[in-house]
Amino acid sequence: MRYGYFDNASKEYIITDPKLPVKWINYVGGLYFGGFVDHTGGSLICKGDPAINRIVKYIPQLPDSDFKGETLYIRIKENDGYKFFSPFYVPTLDNYDLYECHVGLGYSRIISEFYGIRADITIYVPHKSDRVIRDIKIRNLRNKPVDIDVIPVVEYTHFDALKQFDNNDWVPQTMQSKAVYEENGLITITQFAFMRKNSSVNYFTSNNSVSSFETDRRLFLGNNGYGTWACPISLYNDELSSYEALRGDNICALMHHLGQMDPGGEKRVITQLGQCENVKEEKKIIDYYRNEENVDKAFSDLKSFWDKYLSTLHVETPDEDFNTMVNIHNPRQCYITKNWSRYLSLYQMGLGSRGMGFRDSSQDVLGILGNMPEEGCELIEKLLQVQKIDGSAMHQFNPVTMIADEGDARERQDRPKYYGDDHLWIVLAVSTYLKETGDIDFLDLNIPFYDKNKDGLPLENGTVMEHLQRAIEFTHDNIGQHGLALLGFADWNDTVNLPAGAESVFNANLYGYALLEMMDIARYLNEVELARKYQNYHETMKNAFNDACWDGEWYIRYFDKDGNALGSKNNDKCKIYVNAQSWPVISRFAPADRAKKSLGAVYKYLNTSKGIKLSAPGYNGYNPDIGGITTYPPGAKENGGIFLHANIWAIIAETIVGNGDRAYEYYNQINPVTKNNNIDEFECEPYVYPQNILGDEHPQFGLARNSWLSGTASWAYQAATRYILGILPSLEGLILDPCIPAQWNGFRVTRKFRNAIYIIEVANTAHMSKGIKTLIVDGKKIRGNIIPIYDDGNEHIVRAIM
Ligand code: GLC
Repeated sequence: MRYGYFDNASKEYIITDPKLPVKWINYVGGLYFGGFVDHTGGSLICKGDPAINRIVKYIPQLPDSDFKGETLYIRIKENDGYKFFSPFYVPTLDNYDLYECHVGLGYSRIISEFYGIRADITIYVPHKSDRVIRDIKIRNLRNKPVDIDVIPVVEYTHFDALKQFDNNDWVPQTMQSKAVYEENGLITITQFAFMRKNSSVNYFTSNNSVSSFETDRRLFLGNNGYGTWACPISLYNDELSSYEALRGDNICALMHHLGQMDPGGEKRVITQLGQCENVKEEKKIIDYYRNEENVDKAFSDLKSFWDKYLSTLHVETPDEDFNTMVNIHNPRQCYITKNWSRYLSLYQMGLGSRGMGFRDSSQDVLGILGNMPEEGCELIEKLLQVQKIDGSAMHQFNPVTMIADEGDARERQDRPKYYGDDHLWIVLAVSTYLKETGDIDFLDLNIPFYDKNKDGLPLENGTVMEHLQRAIEFTHDNIGQHGLALLGFADWNDTVNLPAGAESVFNANLYGYALLEMMDIARYLNEVELARKYQNYHETMKNAFNDACWDGEWYIRYFDKDGNALGSKNNDKCKIYVNAQSWPVISRFAPADRAKKSLGAVYKYLNTSKGIKLSAPGYNGYNPDIGGITTYPPGAKENGGIFLHANIWAIIAETIVGNGDRAYEYYNQINPVTKNNNIDEFECEPYVYPQNILGDEHPQFGLARNSWLSGTASWAYQAATRYILGILPSLEGLILDPCIPAQWNGFRVTRKFRNAIYIIEVANTAHMSKGIKTLIVDGKKIRGNIIPIYDDGNEHIVRAIM
């Protein structure tokens, strides 16, 4: 069953049935101000920090039919009294004549028709502004005039989102709303909680005169508090009570009488939900966004931002679903993960100080460096500030306060305190940035390490290059009995937590790959000795790995402190892990014959029609000695689930060995676009990658969860563009090394790179998967497969024959 369709001309996905199996969301604004909007108009908005500066109350665990954060009522005066409905489906749950939710880039637009009224509401945060605009257009579709009221509603939360649930006396006693009356019947209602460390207030206002308002939820719902959001009793009265709540559950509902609308007539109400220090001072900006033309301009500026963002890369391949993802939805998801890390989604509520993940953000940034290198660089600088003097990194940090912590490693006293992989990811982020931009001076920038003295000042600074070198040395110095990198609390797989002394094949291979990147940098800088040193490190780890980890048909995944293997044919559970097969190809540790065998084992033992399982078979029962993986039933999440992030590395590994058909098969089977006709099984948004899909050991095989904030986004984009289409920035130029399905006749790509536009056409009449035979740039034949850097602002025509 389908619930909507892709409209690539408008770069939207259009939902046509609101009764989705789960809420589908879209992001507006950024962490500085913003959050998400669901397909029924509910929203979760915060400013700067979802945990301690939350603005609206959104509780995803409540039933989907419940009010969440914001809604809108439209009221019609009939002869027999008032009729009202919400154009968002929730909370009135009406059966509309038309419902559409256009999931756009940075905005959602909900259109519905009911009772002969058309409502068209666009919801967004103007680019870099700190307010949510709801641009509400109402049209009378009847052939008679109609009297219409528009009542938008917001429900606030205490700014400390956890306190909201923790204390139900203190919290409501601190919450207050006040009306600020303005000229022409305009009103701005502020809402605040005592105890805020600053004086800022939330506010809700519109551009139309407000005849009355409500700030107390109990009064709005009516019936002594036993009214419902589906049918608020107060909406049967001509006016709301205009009560300024001194405590309680604060909401803000604004009554707008639009008056008589003739047949075909249209009226517009624009609301703003924001937060500021002082509404009187903010009034100028509030007034600016009350003006329809300014709001139209803000919306078109938002569109321009996205057009520019997407213009870095445009592909035309024979596969429409591939194009849809790579041209629109995948880069959008990369931007969202770069902004939000794992901070706020339907699945992560930004509580418990998780903040941004060091490993997560170091990978997310890889997905946007071509489109917005400056913003990427800003994030990389922050990440480097949470790296420690010893080269390891703090696991997560709050991007506003820059306070970091050790993540889950805090909770287990009997386990190492650091994650064995975190610091290595930053090497990939920096080298990808350098390769994209050529900004080699970045390596000389001084950045403090995280460790502080008693006054809170950094103990040491180091250049970016020093940071990278320390990252490498940390792993070099922390190896176990087989010469492999130590696991630490965990590696990329957060859920296997073994006592100190355990070794990780993942960390060993990530180190191998990071070393390759360091060699590229060292060679470019003409640091011959350094390059040689890293070459030796690579060789040493490669040998240790191949000596200790080959299991006959595949590579094992971990050694515990006593030298017992996990992810081996000798284990009962989790005998084979995909990452232990894909990464040795990526790190170039696996010799060709082993690469072939182990990738074959992935296909044989881990692949399903809906994606590759992370490991198999799953554990069945909690075992604190192994850790979080055993908290899931077999087939779920890291325990034998289809963890999409790791699927992508298998795709990349297949392209490295030249198996374009297999890479494409893997890509396709998890491309969310292909799930559009099967949503009842998949359930999540078909326009973003989820983090996980239940595996075939689980009765709900195929069910997706944890959509949006997953490292899958960045890696899928890289897999598609750098490895399948093979357009790979390097320090020397743009490498062209596609690995495509043999059946493709070719493809076209427009890629902006180093201040030039490359129009690339690859012909594959020989039906190969890999290997460029001829490369012609601007009519001249070029040796090898590196397209030069032009830096001249011009277009360059690249023709390649495979
Ligand atoms: C989650 C975490 C990520 C981790 C992955 C695998 O996606 O955000 O950091 O690598 O799970 O455990």
